[in-house]
Amino acid sequence: MSKIAVLGSGGFGISLAVMADAHDHEVTVWSAFSDEIEMLRIEREHKKLLPGVKIRESIDLITDISGICDCDIVIFAIPSSFVRKIAKIAAPHIKKEAIIVNTGKGLEDDTFKRLSEVIFEEIPANPIVSISGPSHAEEVALGYPTTVTAASTDRDAMYYIQDKLSNEAFRIYACDDIVGVELGGALKNIIALCAGICDGMGYGDNTKAALMTRGLTEIARLGVKLGGRPETFSGLSGIGDLIVTCTSMHSRNRRAGMLIGRGMPPAEAVAQVGTVEGYVCAKIVWKLAKEVGVSMPITEKLYEVFVENKSIKQALSELMQRPKCHEMEKSWL
Ligand SMILES: NC(=O)c1ccc[n+]([C@@H]2O[C@H](COP(=O)([O-])OP(=O)(O)OC[C@H]3O[C@@H](n4cnc5c(N)ncnc54)[C@H](O)[C@@H]3O)[C@@H](O)[C@H]2O)c1
Repeated sequence: MSKIAVLGSGGFGISLAVMADAHDHEVTVWSAFSDEIEMLRIEREHKKLLPGVKIRESIDLITDISGICDCDIVIFAIPSSFVRKIAKIAAPHIKKEAIIVNTGKGLEDDTFKRLSEVIFEEIPANPIVSISGPSHAEEVALGYPTTVTAASTDRDAMYYIQDKLSNEAFRIYACDDIVGVELGGALKNIIALCAGICDGMGYGDNTKAALMTRGLTEIARLGVKLGGRPETFSGLSGIGDLIVTCTSMHSRNRRAGMLIGRGMPPAEAVAQVGTVEGYVCAKIVWKLAKEVGVSMPITEKLYEVFVENKSIKQALSELMQRPKCHEMEKSWL
């Protein structure tokens, strides 16, 4: 049994809390928002995000961050844009032996840092493990068999998290390529948005398969350039997460994409769906790819649709008529 703090009481935070509690860990969930915690204390259910999933009384729901001070594991379940802010708030209250787990998928704007790097800058004394893979909160909370990858530069911490958080419905594989694991998780959201757009426009399976395959190519191209290992992108945090997010109605990126594909302006679609990390990430990755000189045609076209108001039909036409080239690149796979 471990003492586990979950920072963030949204869909993923609550699903992990419910799972850890069901496996006899002592769980505390913290949120910066008192109305969110108050609602959960009263309802003992997140009716909007996880209807029907009971939050047992054994799970402590708090807004006072000092309540995490004796926890062995501190899980960040915070959308990527707010990870640094929450890491700063939490840092003074995390004991020095605790292991931090990042579950967020994204990159920091301006710095292009991965979320484990952001957390490390704010909480430098503690080992950090990133968990990523096909793991929709709605299914984790129901105990559906799920597999993810835990990655860290600290092997002891990685195996510790694998050991403590694995159970019969949640299988964790270990991986020492944290760069590849985090980039796979962050970049797939861009492709999921595009997959949703194509679904919204009424295109079929050929288009979706093309997007996923060529999407993985450009994810891996940037990932390898930034130090990830090619094979990581064919694992759970790469193609595994890409498959789930491009095909599932649980994916908010895909749902927002569907609205855009049906004609809704991107900003309006994102506001309607909520956390759509691919929207922010597309703009960050477009800048990053230019800076490091990596070709990411799908990301570039999505950026042009979002920022330069290019029509989707025009963007698609330009993608299809790029200069002819070979499919395989020597540099990866
Ligand atoms: N939902 C999933 O199925 C899932 C699965 C795997 C990983 N993730 C990742 O986990 C992270 C959290 O996802 P989620 O679906 O739980 O997100 P969410 O939108 O439900 O928000 C999570 C929580 O973060 C906190 N939060 C949000 N905005 C904040 C702010 N401005 N300041 C402080 N705290 C804030 C709130 O407590 C909120 O409930 C994301 O990076 C996501 O990619 C999500």
